[in-house]
Amino acid sequence: MNARHEPDTETAQQADASLVDDVRRGLTRHPRTLPPRWLYDDHGSALFDEITRLPEYYPFTAEHSILQAHADEIVTASGATTLVELGSGTSEKTRLLLDAFTSTGQLARFAPVDVSEATLRSAAEQIAGTYPGLEVVPVVGDFTLHLAQLPQGGRRMVAFLGGTIGNLYLEERKAFLGALADLLQPGDSLLLGTDLVKSADRLIAAYDDSQGVTEAFIRNSLTVLNRELGGDFDQAGFSYIPFWDAHMERMDMRLRSEVPQRITLPGADLVLDLAVGEELRVEISTKFRVSKIAAELETAGLAVARVWTDEPGEFALTLAVKS
Ligand code: SAH
Ligand code: TRP
Repeated sequence: MNARHEPDTETAQQADASLVDDVRRGLTRHPRTLPPRWLYDDHGSALFDEITRLPEYYPFTAEHSILQAHADEIVTASGATTLVELGSGTSEKTRLLLDAFTSTGQLARFAPVDVSEATLRSAAEQIAGTYPGLEVVPVVGDFTLHLAQLPQGGRRMVAFLGGTIGNLYLEERKAFLGALADLLQPGDSLLLGTDLVKSADRLIAAYDDSQGVTEAFIRNSLTVLNRELGGDFDQAGFSYIPFWDAHMERMDMRLRSEVPQRITLPGADLVLDLAVGEELRVEISTKFRVSKIAAELETAGLAVARVWTDEPGEFALTLAVKS
């Protein structure tokens, strides 16, 4: 997959190089694609936080309700002494797990991992304040590249919440789950949050909210490219097109060029000629069925121990153990 750098040598300069790489590769294929991790600069992270509070964005509430009902069982079943969280963001829902761990007294360490450094550091600081005695070790990194940096030792549970795994393509999910399974020890576990297939109306509303927060989040990708690569994307030249791809069972969030236009991205040494109607895919959000999640986990070498869903069956949390 994205084997571009040695895991522990990413510097600011190399981060730019990986943006350039991603942009050159993604924007020159069809459909043109923008890599999702670049959505989460400080502004993007703030917009995502706003998304989680939208009435239409059911995944947050659904996953929250599962954690509220089952955090005790999850924590006990994991037997973990270290909680790692991938793509942790503000770790808001994770507090339900941390509360349950506090009751059992089994947790020694919490290691949140995120590319969005400011959000990660402020969340880590707040959590350290709420849970005295817990060692909080934030790791700034990309979970598709830097898994080797995860803390070692103890019994670990890796939480990957929010349906973020659905933002990866099948091949990327395969590579990611395989790499993760390879570095877990027998008995370590993965707690995976996945959004489930449901009616197109409900899905589209969640990714096309009436306040336009999701649209602003997707459009922020152009702002990031303008800033980081000296680009000249003009927001007015694009409209936001989110749609449900029933065949692939995923939401597909795109920006469509409304005029013929030439975009220059000097930082990536790239010139794009976009025709009217040409689309840039900014993000996918794959929706799952419980059987599909289990199959992908088992293929990676992770055995499903338990699956919890919310009452309406909108979202699933799966605990899978490395054997
Ligand atoms: N887990 C939180 C946030 C989900 S949003 C929740 O459930 O609400 C996705 C998070 O993953 C963001 O904080 C984003 O910065 C982070 N992220 C996205 N791609 C990433 C990558 N490749 N490596 C590490 N973090 C990533
Ligand atoms: N993991 C989240 C999801 O797929 C990320 C997300 C939320 C998102 N809202 C979005 C991605 C809107 C793109 C557009 O649900």
